[in-house]
Amino acid sequence: MTNLFTTYKRWPFALVDGQNWTLIDDSGKHYTDLTSGIGVMNLGYHYPSVQAAVTKQIGQIWHTSNLYQSPLQEKVAAQLIAGLNLPDDYLVFFGNSGTEANEAALKLARRYTGKTKIMNFTHGFHGRTYGSLTVTPKPDIQKGFGVDTSDVVTATFNDEDALDLLDDSFAALIIEVVQGEGGVVPADKIWLAALVAKAEELGVLVIVDEVQTGIGRTGTLFAFQQYGIAPDIITSAKGLGSGLPVGAMIGKASLTSAFPYGAHGTTFGGNPVVMASANATLAALTPEFFSQMQATSKAAFAELETWKELPNVITVRGLGLMIGIQLAENVPAGALAAKLHEYGILTLTAEGNTLRLLPPLIISQQALLTALATIKSVIAGY
Ligand SMILES: Cc1ncc(COP(=O)(O)O)c(C=O)c1O
Repeated sequence: MTNLFTTYKRWPFALVDGQNWTLIDDSGKHYTDLTSGIGVMNLGYHYPSVQAAVTKQIGQIWHTSNLYQSPLQEKVAAQLIAGLNLPDDYLVFFGNSGTEANEAALKLARRYTGKTKIMNFTHGFHGRTYGSLTVTPKPDIQKGFGVDTSDVVTATFNDEDALDLLDDSFAALIIEVVQGEGGVVPADKIWLAALVAKAEELGVLVIVDEVQTGIGRTGTLFAFQQYGIAPDIITSAKGLGSGLPVGAMIGKASLTSAFPYGAHGTTFGGNPVVMASANATLAALTPEFFSQMQATSKAAFAELETWKELPNVITVRGLGLMIGIQLAENVPAGALAAKLHEYGILTLTAEGNTLRLLPPLIISQQALLTALATIKSVIAGY
């Protein structure tokens, strides 16, 4: 019996507490968390500086409308912009989720260019509100909602046809640098650079959706930074608030004429408590943090590379601590994830029978390699 709409297939237990990369369920069972709450808890559970910042802000003011100055939004925007490490000036709009960040991006791109056509990519995922849903090319997610995709052209991810399809009739293209829900599939570097170069030449805006890949997940603040591209718009969410709801649309300052007073807005976006969390989260992502995380990623991928030889593994893909293990048909990813609960390991799945691992970025090498050893033996047992 539930009082909730059945939009989610839920596991039969609740997670009630946690510390770092360990979670505890309502029966007291402990798990190694390789999900981060779907790429949100990049700093794990109870990260001291984030907890302290949020606790302090809770004792001050929880909410002010966006009709007043927001020193905290200014601070977080400055951190994000500095973190881009790009020569152009950028500005930030704060919302409450990934899909809202993409809504803002699509609205800004359309209003700025005066065009409505958007290019998206096969297996992409950009959210479930109407604008984002139109560019999420998954029939089972769009079905029955009267989604109007007449302005959307879907090109094949990592395929030359995208370059042929792109022309100056498009307002923007929207792309994930590493597709998350689509199966943890990194974009080909040469292909993406060529696509972005062509878009720039044509005046088509490039929106990079870093909702899942951002905030350190792939080993840099944003994944596009490993691709040598300079997007016009970057969207972020998930890890930015370390568990408090936030979305950010970061766009070139030159686009600002399309977002004058009243053009866009939200009641809760950039709420002080969330901003306190985002501020502390971004401050934690120091060069030392990244070198430790990259070492963990390197150790994990050195191990995972050997899995490609396993009969039940088709391939292993990923970047940083965004890991996809594509499994043979006889090992259904969902059933494997359920089985791993018995071994105290929480995992995710993604398209293409892929086991998806998004551990907190603070996970120790030893904890991750131990969990991988267990996963390997469970996969081998099929
Ligand atoms: C790449 C990407 N974009 C957008 C979204 C939507 O974010 P939210 O669920 O916060 O609306 C997701 C969520 O999984 C995502 O992975």
